[in-house]
Amino acid sequence: MKTTKNYFPLLAVKLAVLVLLAETAIMGVLPFLGIRSALLENTADAVLLVLVVTPFLVRWALQAARMVGEEVEASRRQLLDIIEFLPDATFVIDSGKKVIAWNRALEKMTGVSKKEMVGKGDYAYAVPFHGERRPIIIDLVSGQDTETEKRYKYVKRTADGTLYAEIFVPSLYGGKGAYVWVTASPLRDGAGNLYGAIESVRDITERKRAEEKILESEDKFRNLTEKSMVGVYLVQDGVFKYCNPALAGIFGFELDEIFGKKGPKDVVLPEDWPIVMENLRKRSDGEVESLNYGFRGLKKNGEVIDVEVYGSRTFYDGKPAVIGTLLDITGRKRMEEALRDAEERSRLILKSAGDGIIGVDTDGLILFANESAQDMLGWKFEEMRGKRLHPLMHHTRPDGSPYPVQECPMYEAFTLSKESQVDNEILWRKDGSSFFVIYSARPMIRNGRTEGAVITFKDITERKKIELEIRTLNAELEVRVEQRTAELRSAQERLIQSEKMSAVGQLAAGVAHEINNPLGIILGFAQGLVKRLKENDPAGMPLRSIERETLRCKDLVQELLIFSRSSKIEEEDLDINEALGGALSLIFARARTQGVEIVRELSQGLPTIPANKGKIQQTLINLANNSLDAMPAGGTLTIRTALSLKRPGHVEIRVQDTGHGIPKEIQPRVLEPFFTTKEVGKGTGLGLAVVYEIVKKHNGSLEMESAEGKGTLFSIFLPIKAAKAPSDRQPTP
Ligand SMILES: Nc1ncnc2c1ncn2[C@@H]1O[C@H](COP(=O)(O)OP(=O)(O)OP(=O)(O)O)[C@@H](O)[C@H]1O
Ligand SMILES: [Mg+2]
Repeated sequence: MKTTKNYFPLLAVKLAVLVLLAETAIMGVLPFLGIRSALLENTADAVLLVLVVTPFLVRWALQAARMVGEEVEASRRQLLDIIEFLPDATFVIDSGKKVIAWNRALEKMTGVSKKEMVGKGDYAYAVPFHGERRPIIIDLVSGQDTETEKRYKYVKRTADGTLYAEIFVPSLYGGKGAYVWVTASPLRDGAGNLYGAIESVRDITERKRAEEKILESEDKFRNLTEKSMVGVYLVQDGVFKYCNPALAGIFGFELDEIFGKKGPKDVVLPEDWPIVMENLRKRSDGEVESLNYGFRGLKKNGEVIDVEVYGSRTFYDGKPAVIGTLLDITGRKRMEEALRDAEERSRLILKSAGDGIIGVDTDGLILFANESAQDMLGWKFEEMRGKRLHPLMHHTRPDGSPYPVQECPMYEAFTLSKESQVDNEILWRKDGSSFFVIYSARPMIRNGRTEGAVITFKDITERKKIELEIRTLNAELEVRVEQRTAELRSAQERLIQSEKMSAVGQLAAGVAHEINNPLGIILGFAQGLVKRLKENDPAGMPLRSIERETLRCKDLVQELLIFSRSSKIEEEDLDINEALGGALSLIFARARTQGVEIVRELSQGLPTIPANKGKIQQTLINLANNSLDAMPAGGTLTIRTALSLKRPGHVEIRVQDTGHGIPKEIQPRVLEPFFTTKEVGKGTGLGLAVVYEIVKKHNGSLEMESAEGKGTLFSIFLPIKAAKAPSDRQPTP
């Protein structure tokens, strides 16, 4: 585009028209050739020349002009083509602010075609961007406009008048919007005259978004490190080139006291500095990429803390550096130590417990067994671990029968969460032996859930043994007590008997003593009279009766005198068999009349015993008489003598009959003096009492066995050697 200068000379209109024509035709070429000024200087001289040369000149000029015009046009089109295909959205306006170029990229960006826009003025080019006609950056090329500048994110103007600005344009790309970087430059001709302006609009949305993202993430990371509890640092040349507030806080510093001023050496306990220094060096030199270790830190106030770092090598300002994180683990360490202590203590308690302690899980698998349990069972924990408790050591009951796991109280502790205490079961050792235990099984409950069971047990084999001994002793004691009671009872019975005897004896002795003398006189006179009786004397029968009955009385008195304690028994070395033989002859006659067979089984070679022959004979007679009384219709009377097996050192005399026997209820009474079942006049009830008394005086004993309807056996035991007679009470005067 070129400006054309027209002028109107005041001379001949023809010439003027001609010149005008020529001027117009050559479209401003002449001024360039310097012709115009010549015409102006000497118009009159030139008129002829002009008239002559004009046709040629015009033709030539026209030709030249056409050529120049074509060239200019071509270069203009070329320029427009270049603009057209520029990758940046670009448009050009002329000095009248009319759009003369609007390229494809801009069409794409704004959705407005070249056709619609080229030739438009009056800020039409602003509409696709801002929806209204108003000055935009391209308009600032020709001058300042603060109002317009304000609309941009920033505007920068260079010395050559080019403007740069950034703005977000929401309407671009069909409303999608885009961040754009705008460059507007003035277009000037060779003389520096402004003839238009060009603006290119570059879509920087993507870059912008990336930038935003970077900023955002930078922000995020800054926030993260600023607010982190973990200390974050970057160390270079022995100084914290970066550190976050947490790092400063860990060492008791304000951030600005440490940032860029202090270095690791200021916060590490001198003893640990060599290690830290070496580790920093290793990372800085690239010997190791990263390191994780702990050391003792030194706080500003001198307090020593435990820290742990994780650092890696990095580059900062083009030089190697160490970047990392740091944690104050003093509390954690202390807690760990406390925990370790507590654990150690619990372990020690479990280890030292005298009771066996075993833990199982919910499958009954052994999780734990303390030392005592291992000692008692003979298994090492490693051998028990993970094995089922019941089949391992609780499979069989004390009686040898199998112990079903479903009935096991230990099992119920974790299946039914049931607690139990048992003291009559056994556990089995590794060597196959067993021992009695008292155990308690309790469920192991965590947060309301049963996680297994704990069984504590004690070996009570010793206790059981003692219990058993006590039980046996008790049983023995019972037997002994029974025996003793029986002995006592019989002793008591004997005592009662002997008391009775002694009472009766004293009475009888007294009576006998008093009666004996009168009886002697009666008998003497009766016998004297009987001697003097004549044949058929009517007094004969009464006198003989007196003599006979008196004799009977004397016998009775003699029997009664037996009970007298004072009555002494004269003992001799007696051949029992011989003495008994003599007595038996006295009862033969009666036995025969009753049809009683007498059997004698007298042991030969019996030792003699210290005894009174008459008394021993009397016992046999009394017993035999009772037997004959009990066998009115015949039977067998057996007399035996023997060395006693039952009572060693004694001779045994047995008198046995097959009579009616003694009813059980009267058995205890038969030895009582005057106890009789016989009718009056037939028995006095003294027979057995006398036998008992005689045996007693010989330090012997008497036993009786009788069964009703079957017969009776009396056994007399007499000591072979003379024993000192029990010290008899002297009769009271
Ligand atoms: N062998 C016997 N069989 C059956 N009963 C007997 C026998 N021996 C003794 N008795 C019973 O014991 C009682 C007492 O006997 P015991 O000899 O002391 O007196 P008794 O025979 O009745 O009279 P006594 O012997 O003084 O003439 C008898 O009455 C009789 O009931
Ligand atoms: Mg009798």
